[in-house]
Amino acid sequence: MKALKLSMVIIAATMLASCEVEDNETLVSDETSSASHNTGKNCMTCHQKGGEGEGQFTIAGTVYNAAVTEGTVGAVIKLTTGARGAGTVLATVVSDQFGNFYTTKSVDYSSGVYVSMTGKSGTSKHMFAKITTGECNACHGVSGSKLSIE
Ligand code: HEC
Ligand code: HEC
Repeated sequence: MKALKLSMVIIAATMLASCEVEDNETLVSDETSSASHNTGKNCMTCHQKGGEGEGQFTIAGTVYNAAVTEGTVGAVIKLTTGARGAGTVLATVVSDQFGNFYTTKSVDYSSGVYVSMTGKSGTSKHMFAKITTGECNACHGVSGSKLSIE
C-alpha cells in the first residue's frame, strides 16, 4: 500500500516535471535554423509561461528584406544598455531561414533596453526609444512598421 502511494507520487512528480521542461525548453534561433513558423505574428502570445508554444521567448520577432516581401536571413539583433548599440550588450539573436528570431535566454528589461539591428550588407538600424518587452511583433507589423534590413 505504502509502495503504491509512493509510486503514484513519483509518477505525478514526473508528469509535472515534464510540463516544466516544455515551458523551460531552451530555444535560440540562428542563421541556419528553420524550426520556426507564424512569420510576422506575435510569437509570445503562445511562447510564454503556460502558453501552448514550447519555450518562453524573451526576444522574438520577424525581420524582412527592404521590399518587405520575404524574411531576411542572418540579421543580427542586439539589445544594449546604451543607445545606438553603445554600452553593454545584454543579448544577441540572429534571424533564421524565415527571418524569424527568438531566444529563451533571460533578459533584464527592468531599466529598459535599446535595440539595434544589422543586416549582412552591414547596414544598421536602431530603435530610438527603449523597450521593456522583447515582443517585437506586438508593435512591428501592428502599430508600427514591419522590421526590415538587408
Ligand atoms: C498560435 C500559437 C503560436 C504562435 C503565435 C507561435 N508559435 Fe511557435 N510553436 C507553437 C506550438 C504549439 C509549437 C509546438 C508544436 C509545433 O512545433 O508546431 C511551436 C513550436 C515552435 C518552434 C519549434 C520548437 C522546437 O522544439 O523545435 C519554434 C522555433 C517556434 N515555435 C518559433 C516561433 C516563432 C519565432 C514565432 C513568432 C514568429 C512563433 N513560434 C509563434 C505555437 C505558436
Ligand atoms: C512597444 C512597441 C515596440 C516594441 C515592443 C518594439 N518596437 Fe521597435 N520600434 C517601435 C517604434 C514606435 C519605432 C519607431 C520609433 C523609434 O525608433 O523609437 C521602432 C523602431 C525600431 C527600429 C528602427 C527602425 C528603422 O527603420 O530605423 C528597429 C531596428 C526596431 N524598432 C527593432 C525592434 C526590435 C528588434 C524589437 C524587439 C526586440 C522591437 N523593435 C520592439 C516600437 C516597438
